[in-house]
Amino acid sequence: MLRIDALTKRFGDKTAVDTANIVVTKPAMIGIIGRSGAGKSTMLRMINRLSDATSGTIMFGDENITALRGAARRDWQSRCAMIFQQFNLVPRMDVVSNVLHGTLNKRSTLATLFNLYPQSDIHHAIEILDRLGIAEQAPKRAEALSGGQQQRVAIARALMQDPKIILADEPIASLDPMNAQVVMQALRAIHEEDGRMVIANLHTLDTARRYCDRVIGMRDGRIVFDGTPEELTTATARDIYGAGADFSEAATSTEIETLDRPEVRLAAAYA
Ligand SMILES: Nc1ncnc2c1ncn2[C@@H]1O[C@H](COP(=O)(O)OP(=O)(O)OP(=O)(O)O)[C@@H](O)[C@H]1O
Ligand SMILES: [Mg+2]
Repeated sequence: MLRIDALTKRFGDKTAVDTANIVVTKPAMIGIIGRSGAGKSTMLRMINRLSDATSGTIMFGDENITALRGAARRDWQSRCAMIFQQFNLVPRMDVVSNVLHGTLNKRSTLATLFNLYPQSDIHHAIEILDRLGIAEQAPKRAEALSGGQQQRVAIARALMQDPKIILADEPIASLDPMNAQVVMQALRAIHEEDGRMVIANLHTLDTARRYCDRVIGMRDGRIVFDGTPEELTTATARDIYGAGADFSEAATSTEIETLDRPEVRLAAAYA
């Protein structure tokens, strides 16, 4: 289905993603883990074509994704929806209109300008919201919702595009544990019930273990682990994060960043 070959992204002399290879043969729920700066976001942005690869290829079926230009690239972006940590909703707009924005790629500028949506799209948007347990929030402004509800609106907007792949860049990093669980369960359900591929950058290892069939570990732009949660031992996890003995599975990638740098923590204590 999805085949990534020697994918590389350089920013000046910094190699953010370094000759990465990933093969996905059937829709799976994949978690990408690694410390801050490992290249996780850059990887997802290249798959979605928000960012161009420096070299290497991404194939989806027979289609060379890395070569798509113009309308073909935009079409790919609607088949490969992206969800972000900060939800990226229009805060003052109502929930259902935010969800309908997911059809934007397929509509004329004029219709968009006047907020004209076909009745069938509106019904479909409400169905999706209902499936995610937030149909009653449909008329409210997005900004009036909790973080977990807003992220579910973002998922609904993504589903409106009927994507084959959902890419989620740290979808729960801004949420409390309760909301984080609801959002991860929603992503899991979308994978299991609809057969969509989900690839999520996750900032804690225990979340990746709990919800994903497959975990990819990145370190300094390279893929250093690719296997099942069972194959991911604590020693391997330590290696992925480059962390010492004080490594904890519940630690976030940003916390791990400071684990082996005690002077940073000391400075923070005096700040
Ligand atoms: N637009 C850019 N210009 C220059 N360097 C960049 C750019 N985007 C990313 N980088 C660098 O590439 C590396 C990988 O960044 P990336 O954002 O992919 O990491 P990440 O694993 O998503 O980290 P985090 O967990 O903090 O989100 C980092 O060193 C980062 O500074
Ligand atoms: Mg990132």
